[in-house]
Amino acid sequence: VTAAEFVVVANRLPVDRIITPDGEEIWRTSPGGLVAALEPMMRSVDGAWVGWAGQPDLDVPPFEADGIRLLPVRLSAQEVEEYYEGFSNDTIWPLYHDVIAPPQYHREWWEAYVTVNLRFAEAAAAAVAKGGTVWVHDYQLQLVPEMVRNLRPDITVGYFHHIPFPAHGLYAQLPWRDQVLRGLLGADVIGFQRAQDATNFLAAAKRRLGHETKATTIALPDGRTPLVKAFPISIDTTPYRELAQRPDIKARALEIREGLGNPKRILLGVDRLDYTKGIRHRIKAYGELLDQGRISVEDAAFIQVASPSRERVDAYMHLRDEVELAIGRINGDHDTLGHTAIRYLHQGFPREEMVAMYLAADVMLVTALRDGMNLVAKEYIATRADNRGVLVLSEFTGAADELRQAVRVNPHDIEGVKDAIMTAIEMPRHEQSKRMRSLRKRVLENDVSAWSRSFLTALEDAGARNRSGA
Ligand code: G6P
Repeated sequence: VTAAEFVVVANRLPVDRIITPDGEEIWRTSPGGLVAALEPMMRSVDGAWVGWAGQPDLDVPPFEADGIRLLPVRLSAQEVEEYYEGFSNDTIWPLYHDVIAPPQYHREWWEAYVTVNLRFAEAAAAAVAKGGTVWVHDYQLQLVPEMVRNLRPDITVGYFHHIPFPAHGLYAQLPWRDQVLRGLLGADVIGFQRAQDATNFLAAAKRRLGHETKATTIALPDGRTPLVKAFPISIDTTPYRELAQRPDIKARALEIREGLGNPKRILLGVDRLDYTKGIRHRIKAYGELLDQGRISVEDAAFIQVASPSRERVDAYMHLRDEVELAIGRINGDHDTLGHTAIRYLHQGFPREEMVAMYLAADVMLVTALRDGMNLVAKEYIATRADNRGVLVLSEFTGAADELRQAVRVNPHDIEGVKDAIMTAIEMPRHEQSKRMRSLRKRVLENDVSAWSRSFLTALEDAGARNRSGA
């Protein structure tokens, strides 16, 4: 195997191995914003991607997909439980998302996290060319920057954190808080979604490890000065803009509208079924609007796509029960034989169908309680070529820092969410286009290639600086 100048390391490969009910093996695009954002960049560079194929106990040799070299990392069933479902998604995920669900702290999970992080670091160290670059991604791999640097002091190491980084008051709960900070500080650039996340990280490094910090750098005892900065991520807008123009997809959008009985307004929510997304709050607000007669099932239809996620983690199982109970009650109270209050789809959909739904939707509801960025908001905007449609957007998303022309909401304020939904439903067309035009400008100009370019330029500078200074 030839060494790669550029190696991405992420928990997941861009494709997941799926075994169909009839035993057939297929590879499917992995869920979530990280893969959606990184895949287009990787197709345009000559690099390799180290990650997990999404199933336990699976030995897959390196292979190529869509022009990307993939280097699979094996996880045992126990490691999937302790490192992925446990430490990553039942400790770090809830802790970093404002403890919306209570984080679980288990020493065995931490040990598995260390073991698996080392495996990813070794795979990256073996794949990267002399003097090359390794770009580590997200909260599942926070120890990899330091580990890979120790294995390969000749390379440049970047890290990007796709989710929030919490304020010190919460971060301090983590029993392994100092080890995690040291792990991250192995990178030459530590990138975050929002300025606030970078500030929180700098404060933690200062308070916990006593490092001297400046506005965007940290001075380390070994002479390195990692850059700590916000690089808000985005999407590849091209496929969304192109699909939105395709006649068959436009026709499909009309068909969706007709299938719903031609309501005056279609509202749409699209999320992984995750407690951070504020799906319950959105449903509650919608149910109250129906109860109060401010909207009716004839005039408005609400589609909620909730794609299955982390289904073996308790908090996700409970959430599913709660969401399905709430929707069942609302539909039971308000449906007629011809109309359904909330169409609930616990499924993932191909991009073509997603774009048809975005085109059909007059109002897009993003009510996350906490979200690193939220790329669904940007996808919706990218499809609105006619400048129509309204985005309702939670203040607690990274996207809210940029998308100032959305209708902003605090999802905890149910009356506020109801008012925002009504504002969106009733918004005059000229006001819609005024806002959408400026939202589109922002999203089309700051797309994912601008994001990776700015991160990688900063990484090149910081790598050179640290090599000469260290
Ligand atoms: C978020 C995270 C990603 C993760 C994705 C899907 O976008 O930032 O790191 O891959 O969710 O979650 P999953 O657990 O299925 O990988």
